[in-house]
Amino acid sequence: MASLGGVTGPSIEGRPRAEAGSEVAISARGITKSFGEVHALSGVDIDVTRGTVLGLLGPNGAGKTTFVRVLTTLLKPDGGSARVAGLDVVADAAALRASIGLAGQYAAVDENLTGLENLTMVGRLYGRPRAAAKARGRELLERFDLLEAANRPVKTYSGGMRRRLDLAAALVVSPPVLFLDEPTTGLDPRSRLGLWEVIEGLVAEGTTLLLTTQYLEEADRLADRIAVIDHGRVIAEGTATELKARVGGLRLEVTLEAGADRPAALAALAGVGSDEPVLEDGLLKVSVAERAGTIVAAVTSLSAAGVGVDDIILRSPTLDDVFLSLTGHGAEDGTDPESRP
Ligand SMILES: Nc1ncnc2c1ncn2[C@@H]1O[C@H](COP(=O)(O)OP(=O)(O)O)[C@@H](O)[C@H]1O
Ligand SMILES: [Mg+2]
Repeated sequence: MASLGGVTGPSIEGRPRAEAGSEVAISARGITKSFGEVHALSGVDIDVTRGTVLGLLGPNGAGKTTFVRVLTTLLKPDGGSARVAGLDVVADAAALRASIGLAGQYAAVDENLTGLENLTMVGRLYGRPRAAAKARGRELLERFDLLEAANRPVKTYSGGMRRRLDLAAALVVSPPVLFLDEPTTGLDPRSRLGLWEVIEGLVAEGTTLLLTTQYLEEADRLADRIAVIDHGRVIAEGTATELKARVGGLRLEVTLEAGADRPAALAALAGVGSDEPVLEDGLLKVSVAERAGTIVAAVTSLSAAGVGVDDIILRSPTLDDVFLSLTGHGAEDGTDPESRP
């Protein structure tokens, strides 16, 4: 497999090792992977700077899990090359596995031990003193709303509780590079918030994180940079602000009164917006170039056309607008068959 200029660095001993000095923690070039006729990845390029969070944002079936599996050595790519922490995902797979974290990968949870015993054990395995390992275990159990079940054997846990414990187990120590594949899918809002806080803590300590998500809000909150993936390709990349700026302008949204004349409303707004107005479920949307005077102009025009309005707002574009304008469909389309309640 070809090495990547600027990212590789042969060790003095001739043995691959994780590179402390490299600024790029994850780098992929032209990664392809097919399953029979399905092109899950069609040439993915990505760079993640050390100590930052990349949000890989895409709908169900976009190729997120396949990409994470390639980067974590669980799946060999058909083509292309990738390095994580300076190690090649194919040639240095064994060394790489030791320096990354991946929720769900190890299934290390022991059914007969309690939640707290499990987390303490993981900390001990990584060389933490018993008291520190136990304290971290308690902290994580609290974050994931499992404190009440801390002293129950895991075999009594529900599916959702196991999933949260598995996430907690992956977060006991901060590995140099961490992969979280849709970590909050199926989590209750409180555990989701708990996870976000744990993640922010790990990143503050220097962990590089690649996080996949279908949730725009999550990418917006956690990620330094976002790569939008659809049909096995990265179709846009940048900060949330940059991506939103690509869509440009502002969004005018008008909630029509029940029974309002919709064609008349569309026609009335055509002169106000900078693109074609669209109507979705009684909500009229159009891009506008300027803030000043827009609401007055819209209300005047709608009123002249005899269209009743319940609400009217002017807002900045969201990542959902970005996704829609890039792909023609929403990011949160479809449901994840792997998600559990
Ligand atoms: N082991 C597999 N065998 C066959 N098809 C697969 C396999 N894994 C993934 N796919 C297909 O590859 C595409 C990408 O899947 P995946 O990487 O799981 O997407 P995501 O995680 O973004 O939902 C989908 O069309 C999926 O059905
Ligand atoms: Mg997936």
